[in-house]
This record gives sequence, C-alpha cells and structure tokens, in this order.
Amino acid sequence: MTDTKKSQHGEWSSRFAFILAATGSAVGLGNIWKFPYITGENGGGAFVIIYLLCVLLIGIPIMMAETMLGRRSRQNPISTMITLADEAGADKNWHYLGWMGVAAGFLILSYYSVIAGWASAYVLKALTGSFFGADASAIKAIFDDFVASPVKLLFWHSLFMLATMLIVVRGVNTGLEKAVRFLMPSLFVLLILMVAYAMTTDSYDQGVKFLFTPDFSKLTGNGVLTAMGHAFFTLSLGMGAIMVYGSYLPKDVSISKTVFLIAGTDTVVALLAGVAIFPIVFASGLEPAAGPGLIFQTLPIAFGNMTGGWFFGVLFFVMLVFAALSSSISLIEPAVAWLVENKDMSREQACIWSGSITWLLGLGTIFSFNVWSEFKIFDRTIFQLLDYLTANLMLPIGGFCIAVFAGWIMKQQHTEHELDMPNALSYQTWQILTRYVAPAAVFLVFLHVVGVL
Ligand code: PHE
Repeated sequence: MTDTKKSQHGEWSSRFAFILAATGSAVGLGNIWKFPYITGENGGGAFVIIYLLCVLLIGIPIMMAETMLGRRSRQNPISTMITLADEAGADKNWHYLGWMGVAAGFLILSYYSVIAGWASAYVLKALTGSFFGADASAIKAIFDDFVASPVKLLFWHSLFMLATMLIVVRGVNTGLEKAVRFLMPSLFVLLILMVAYAMTTDSYDQGVKFLFTPDFSKLTGNGVLTAMGHAFFTLSLGMGAIMVYGSYLPKDVSISKTVFLIAGTDTVVALLAGVAIFPIVFASGLEPAAGPGLIFQTLPIAFGNMTGGWFFGVLFFVMLVFAALSSSISLIEPAVAWLVENKDMSREQACIWSGSITWLLGLGTIFSFNVWSEFKIFDRTIFQLLDYLTANLMLPIGGFCIAVFAGWIMKQQHTEHELDMPNALSYQTWQILTRYVAPAAVFLVFLHVVGVL
C-alpha cells in the first residue's frame, strides 16, 4: 500500500467538510436526548465528571486512532482492518472488529431512528401549537399518548429511515456533506437560547448544581459503565463511523487538531443541553430520572410558555431531527461502503438493503414502548437491551480493540507518520493514552461491573 492511496469512494472537499461531517456524526440525539436523561438517571454531577474524564482520556485518543486507521487504508472498516493487519503482519482475525462495528451500526440505528422519529413528530406538534400554555402534566400526557401508539411510532420511524437512506444514496461528497453544512451553527444558537430561558426559571441554580456538583455516593458501577459507554456513543467511536469518515479525509489534514475541535464541540453541546434541561426539570417538579422521555417532557414546557415559543419550538425540533440525520447517515455508512466496495452493489442497492434491515429491527424498539413494554430480557425492554448492548458493551469493546491495534499492532513509524503531531511530546502522550490508559480504563470498568473489582 502506498501513502498516496486514494479513496475509492471519494474524498471530502476540504478539512472543513470533514469537520462538519464528523461533528455532524458526533453531535446528535446522544448529546441532546441521551446525555440529559442518563445524567438524570445516574444522579448528576459525579456521572458528568466520569463522562468528561472518559472523553478526555479515552475518547479523544481513540478518535484520533480511528480516524487514522480509516485514512491510512481509505476503505470501509472491514477492509481497513484486513489491509492494515496485513500491512502490520498481524492476524487476519482483526477484520472481525470491522464486522462488529457494522453490526453495532445496524443495532444502534434501529433504535436511534425510532427516537429521531419522536423528534420529527414533535416538529409537527410544535407547528400545530400543541404545547401552547401547557403545564408539565399536560406535556407529559402528550408524550405518554404518543409513545403508546405503535402505529404513530412506526410512521415516524419509517419516515426517518427513508430520509436517512435518501441522503446516504447520494454519497459522501454530495449527500453527506451538504446535509450538515448549516446545521451545527443553528443548533448551537438555539441551545444557547434555551439556556437563556432556563436562566429565567427559579430553579436555574438547582439545575446547574445537579449537573456540576459531584456526589459520588449516587454513582453505581453500572453508572460508571454508562458514562464510559456514552463517551464512545456521543463521539461515534468504536463502530467504524469515524473510521469510514476518516477514509474520506485528505492526507494533509492534521488529525489531532481536528479531533480536538470535534470532541470539544460535542462536549459543549451536551453540557449546554444539560444546562437547558435540568432547571426546567426542577422548576416543573419533574423527576430527573424520567428516562428516555425526559427532553420531550421538559423542553415543550418552555416552548409552551416563553415568548416566541412557537417559533423556537418548531426550530428546535427541526434542528434536532437534522442533528439526528447527520448522525444516522454515519451509522449506516460503514455497511453501505462495505457493500459497495466488496459486494459490487450500487449505492442504491446497498442503501435499500441496509436501510430495510435497520427499519425492521426498529420494530423491536417501537413495541418496547407500548405493546411489549412488559416483555423483558435480563430485566430490560428490547430498547434498553439494545442500548446497553451497543453503547455499554459493543462500542467500548470496539474502542478497546482499536486502541490496542493502533497502539501495539501498527508500526510506530506508520502511526507517527499518519498522525503527524506538532511535536514528540504530543505523539508520546497519544501513545501512552492509546497503549495503556484507554485499554486499561475500559478493562477496569468492565471488571468493576462484573463485580471482580
Ligand atoms: N454520536 C451520535 C450521537 O451522539 C450517535 C452515534 C453513535 C453515531 C455511534 C455514530 C456512531 O447522537
């Protein structure tokens, strides 16, 4: 393999395009929907600190590693692992890592799309003024009614999957790039506006304190695992999404600077969402541990009662849907790239195949909020099980393997060349984090959860 190897599937038009797309992948429901509710379920501040530490010490070095693997091989994650293992003289079995990533992408998207469907439905609710003047209990009733209907959830899930497939069909240089161009800045502005609203409630201090004052007695072993898993989830790591985006990255772009920018933006968006939501939670007497419905039961209260709330409500949910779309396309891209590059399929065929499988899998999540809500495996509904399996297990395991591969298996001269860090110290820091800190941390958290530690 030569260093000038071009990607078969196109290249981003610039560093900025990659930043937009990777940030688009990272920033999504994970930041705005999931981060607040899992923080609420796990007691607040202490959970947030563990999450931030994981982003810094595990997420960022692994994100650099994953981008690097993709860019070096310029192929889909499965072929990347085959090519790079070969280059390093390592075992062929590394390609299973690529397979696990593709599987994780399907599983995540299957429930991601259902929740993104909720956000889409809320665009319509906001448009028709459903939140106007409503109090917390009315807003909760709207949510409960909505998720109780499998037909409605199915409709919105189908619509969202269709939108995802339509964008992915157009390919990386047109579809993916254009889809995220306007989104990030607008979402950012809107979140700041929501924070401004939160400041006007009496519970602003209480909300901020909940988020930032750690009480470690509230944190369980599973809470630590969830925080770590979320660091992977929110940065789109451990399943090949960032790898496949890295494979479209031009050679002359600095991976480290770019990754810091993306991870920083992602973290700020999550924290802003938390600061916007928790004051409303406390001001309305709601439970921080309300679960996956949390943002749908809080933010509409704000939209229903603030000046200009109709406009901002519509805009907010539109933005949320777009943020979800720019993530969902990256969840399915590894599979599509593999089908196109290895199975001789057209992008259309590849999208139809992978989209249909995901759509079908999504039924499990839809039903777990209504007709199958009592059906539990290991004490979890299908949705909870999928979420646990992917975010808490598959992504960290994938990330662990990526760290080991980049830190130990690849030749140092190759990683050094690809990363092209500004100085030796930053390369060594990356190497220590990737070789020792990140894998050890993932391993210890796992041991802790199974009760060995
Ligand atoms: N990072 C996305 C979010 O926070 C979700 C995602 C996970 C996307 C894994 C791609 C891969 O919403």
